Amino acid sequence: MAKYDLTQTIATYLDRHLVFPLIEFLKENRALKSSSSLNKIYGEKELLSAQLDLLSNTNMVDFAMDIHRKLHETEPPATFATKRAAVLARLKELNALCAPLVRLLQDQTKVAELKEEKNYNIEFIQENLGVPAGCLDHLYESAKFQFECGNYSGAADFLYHFRTLSNDAEKKFNALWGKFAAEILMLKWTTAIEDLKALKEAIEAKLQQRTWLLHWSLFVFFNHPNGRNGIVDMFLQDKYLNTIQTTCPHILRYLTTAVITNKRRRNQLNDLVRVLQQESHSYSDPITEFLEDLYANFDFDAAQKKLRECENVLMNDFFLVSCRNEFMENARLLIFETYCRIHQTIDISTLAQKLDMDQDAAERWIVNLIRNAHLDAKIDSAANHVIMGTQNPSIYQQVIDKTKSLSFRTHVLANNLDKYVQSEGDDKAQA
Ligand SMILES: *[C@@H]1O[C@H](CO)[C@@H](O)[C@H](O)[C@H]1NC(C)=O
Repeated sequence: MAKYDLTQTIATYLDRHLVFPLIEFLKENRALKSSSSLNKIYGEKELLSAQLDLLSNTNMVDFAMDIHRKLHETEPPATFATKRAAVLARLKELNALCAPLVRLLQDQTKVAELKEEKNYNIEFIQENLGVPAGCLDHLYESAKFQFECGNYSGAADFLYHFRTLSNDAEKKFNALWGKFAAEILMLKWTTAIEDLKALKEAIEAKLQQRTWLLHWSLFVFFNHPNGRNGIVDMFLQDKYLNTIQTTCPHILRYLTTAVITNKRRRNQLNDLVRVLQQESHSYSDPITEFLEDLYANFDFDAAQKKLRECENVLMNDFFLVSCRNEFMENARLLIFETYCRIHQTIDISTLAQKLDMDQDAAERWIVNLIRNAHLDAKIDSAANHVIMGTQNPSIYQQVIDKTKSLSFRTHVLANNLDKYVQSEGDDKAQA
């Protein structure tokens, strides 16, 4: 599994604070699966030491001291206490420096009045309201410092105000990145998606910035309820697709997962498969290979094997762990649909194998599917077959060679299915 772990690759494109949730996830994963050595990608000490390393460049000294105790099982050296005192002193100093402006910003009546009179700008505020010059820059600095302390709400608040008042385009742009990170770290997905939109507009032609945005947006897209649409829409835009292909093909894992788990974006499958094929020399993992096996090679056996590996990859991926079940369900559906498109008659037990499900589960699943998904298919319970209503001869021709070795077996299930269909009939008769 270590081979498919993207934590370190992704971390290079994140703010260091955004890396903490990823490491926490790996730590929890270790703890959860203490019985299975398969999923222990990193050692516990290794993770603690990575955390300590990340913390060394932040102001989160108490957190760093905690980790230090866990890692070395001794009291941390005096340098930590010295740094802690320095951080507190600087915090106090910065607070004092931007206090006049903060006091004004907290006075909502006054702010509303200023806006009403079109006087809400830093020049007017400095000239008429006793706010010293340089105060706005101190607000920005203070926000950055609070962020480094792990006070993300304070930072987001200050950065928001800074952006409403500043005339410095570059600083405003940086403030937006900072605010976006802070919103992500507070799990405020609604605000985060607004910041994401603003950043998208602000970036325009900057390749490097787009690469970062692709990575940061993973937090939003795999948490916001509408994220699975958003990621497909954004990542498949030419600009972003080019960026993925040029600088970070590993992002294809996330795009592929989003397309597979999102029925509303299925029409993008063929485009995506084309990209996966083009990029397979520079990036592939079980998730991208699954789709290639199924859609480009029509190799059901390979796809089914990959599906098992996919489950492990998903379980160990911070962003994808929560859509594991959904992925498996939809991946099976894809196998089923593809299989049905190229076979007139399908033996249910063979299909159960292809879906990597046990027979009973597969049987129930298929019956439900035919009933709920308006699939043009009938079940011949005596023969234990699914019989498809329509055919697509060209696809059939394409793949006939690759699939003719599949054996069709009929047994056991026939009886079970008979019973099932019988009871369905009884239900209907009673209704
Ligand atoms: C976070 O920052 C804000 C703004 O500076 C401040 O008012 C608040 O007290 C800080 N919170 C903590 C827990 O330090």
